[in-house]
Amino acid sequence: MTQTVALTGATGFIGSHIVEKLLSAGFHVRALTRSPSTNANQLGLTWVRGSLENEASLAELVAGAEVVIHCAGQVRGKNFSTFTQANIEGSLRLLRATEEGTSCKRYLFISSLAARHPQLSWYAHSKALAEQQLVAQAASVSIGIFRPTAVYGPRDKELHPVFTWLLRGLLPQTGSSATQLSFLHVYDFAEAVVKWIEAKVEHSEPYELCDGHPSGYRWQDLQTIGQSIRQKPVKVIKIPLPLLKTIATLSTQISRLSGKEPMLTQSKIGELTHRDWSATNVTITRNIGWTPNIRLERALRDGLF
Ligand SMILES: NC(=O)c1ccc[n+]([C@@H]2O[C@H](COP(=O)([O-])OP(=O)(O)OC[C@H]3O[C@@H](n4cnc5c(N)ncnc54)[C@H](OP(=O)(O)O)[C@@H]3O)[C@@H](O)[C@H]2O)c1
Repeated sequence: MTQTVALTGATGFIGSHIVEKLLSAGFHVRALTRSPSTNANQLGLTWVRGSLENEASLAELVAGAEVVIHCAGQVRGKNFSTFTQANIEGSLRLLRATEEGTSCKRYLFISSLAARHPQLSWYAHSKALAEQQLVAQAASVSIGIFRPTAVYGPRDKELHPVFTWLLRGLLPQTGSSATQLSFLHVYDFAEAVVKWIEAKVEHSEPYELCDGHPSGYRWQDLQTIGQSIRQKPVKVIKIPLPLLKTIATLSTQISRLSGKEPMLTQSKIGELTHRDWSATNVTITRNIGWTPNIRLERALRDGLF
């Protein structure tokens, strides 16, 4: 019988790829949407209007589903409370709906590698607290936790400009030259979600996910990759901390006027200047057999971003 998966965040970058992967793997998908314009059901896909704040819509979302993939999340915000409302309270509300719905026994929380360092930012702190509280409060539902590193690929808006400039010959560097970075292609990430569903394991230890490049990328490695693809030099432009802080202040002020959440805040600078974003796939590979296929250099060379 076709398995039904309840998915949040399907209107976003990563969630939209998870939808495509689940449909191509033969699952039926029930997807939460806040947008009145997202309602075109297609074969295998049913949209449920609502939000993480609306209990009735969450009950409707999980009805009849065997698995919940919780990918919705607040990734930008002007204060800690913006993050806690969606990332902690919203995740727990969805857990309660899942437990009450009874058909669903497994819940995958899309956290972030940032949760490994809760002190760095409001976002990181909210993801770490959400992980802890989901595991502590789950009774009949088993919790899985994915901690992806920076995800990129078609439809991404955050890393796309950085890689575009890299291939044009300019690389803005936001931290120390010794920083270890890591990346993950969204196709590999969506594949990992399907693998997790099919593996039917019940572990709540967090799984880190990255593209498997040994001990992460240094800024210089990105420069080398860019130069090798362009066959021309790439200039690294170091962005000094005071300039980052000024941009964060401006971004926060502009967001007050526009009513949109700021792209860069003083809190976010903690993440941008952190030195160790290396990650390991050892645990996820051992437990569910997933390994990534797409390294950054191949993705940039083949235009997969
Ligand atoms: N992108 C990365 O590099 C990365 C790395 C690690 C972890 N993650 C995590 O992966 C998840 C998806 O990230 P993304 O990059 O795809 O972000 P995104 O493009 O901003 O998508 C966020 C999604 O969450 C939904 N959402 C947010 N708040 C909601 C609420 N209160 N109720 C219902 N839906 C809500 C959004 O709905 P609307 O379309 O209505 O706004 C959208 O579908 C997030 O949990 C993020 O923390 C991302």
